[in-house]
Amino acid sequence: MQIKDVYKIVEQDFQQVNGLITQQLCSDVPLVEKIAEYIVQSGGKRLRPLLVLLVSGALDYRGDQHTKLATVIEFLHTATLLHDDVVDTSDLRRGRSTANAKWGNAPSVLVGDFLYARAFQMMVELQSLDIMDVLAEATKVIAEGEVFQLTNCKNPDITEENYFEVIKNKTAMLFEAAAHSAAILSNADLETRQLLKTFGLQLGLAFQLVDDLLDYSGDAETMGKNVGDDLAEGKPTLPLIQAMKVAPEADRQLIRRAVRQSDASLLKDVCRIVRDSGALDYTLKAAEKCQQSALNSLEALPSSDYKDALRTLAIIAVERDS
Ligand code: IPE
Ligand code: IPE
Ligand code: MG
Ligand code: MG
Repeated sequence: MQIKDVYKIVEQDFQQVNGLITQQLCSDVPLVEKIAEYIVQSGGKRLRPLLVLLVSGALDYRGDQHTKLATVIEFLHTATLLHDDVVDTSDLRRGRSTANAKWGNAPSVLVGDFLYARAFQMMVELQSLDIMDVLAEATKVIAEGEVFQLTNCKNPDITEENYFEVIKNKTAMLFEAAAHSAAILSNADLETRQLLKTFGLQLGLAFQLVDDLLDYSGDAETMGKNVGDDLAEGKPTLPLIQAMKVAPEADRQLIRRAVRQSDASLLKDVCRIVRDSGALDYTLKAAEKCQQSALNSLEALPSSDYKDALRTLAIIAVERDS
């Protein structure tokens, strides 16, 4: 199964989600609509809403609220991206200028807030306190993850454990919440909810590990965002943490300096070092380990096309180049 087959399985639901995304962006303030539409219309892979729809399908959900839940999750994600690009001073996202590059930081932050607010309004319409609890907690944890990462910036001494804490919070938490909330919506028993939580978490970890890998080995055109942004921010991600452990002394010192000074002019050398030291392979192995845990947690689900599609999602999270 390929990714296009995965989208195909939930094609009709997905059309509804895409419709809801556009419809729910309306605002009386023209700049709000303009920026929100700009980021939303640049697309993105919409993996998190896809996850909601697939989990609902795999658990035989029969209602019509799953498309709304999927939209809520995509709005939360998009809000984090608007804020994240300000924090990371990024200028390319989804193959276009970021909102902050185009309109400045202030409107980007405020429209991010607008999207959070819309997400919570739609969440209320779902009328499930359990889902609200999961999503409110996830929103809080994502913010904590971003702030924790900020406090680790330019610090070459961050541990692998700290790094995992960051990526779990800033990224994996939303994947976990997407799968978990869809399981709650589908009235799954506690054991099944737990399995899907684990699936989302491990999928999200694998996804961010590969994202951090691609920041050194990917291609900006394919990814729609810049290569080398992490180094330019002095972000000590796993490829660097591992290279600082195993590379020859001179190379270790070069990376330490690049992180401390967030020196993007050293990118070429750093790319060579992370590759030659095996740090990229190490990161890929870590992603594959998370992928395997994700796949294991699916085993108990009854066989279905949705289950196969969830499996494919876990495979693509690691094999992707964009
Ligand atoms: C980007 O997520 C943020 C990360 C967690 C790395 P995606 O790569 O899913 O972004 P879009 O929505 O497809 O643009
Ligand atoms: C992604 O962080 C996590 C959130 C958006 C909360 P990154 O900063 O690593 O992701 P990209 O590279 O900007 O997409
Ligand atoms: Mg960031
Ligand atoms: Mg970023």
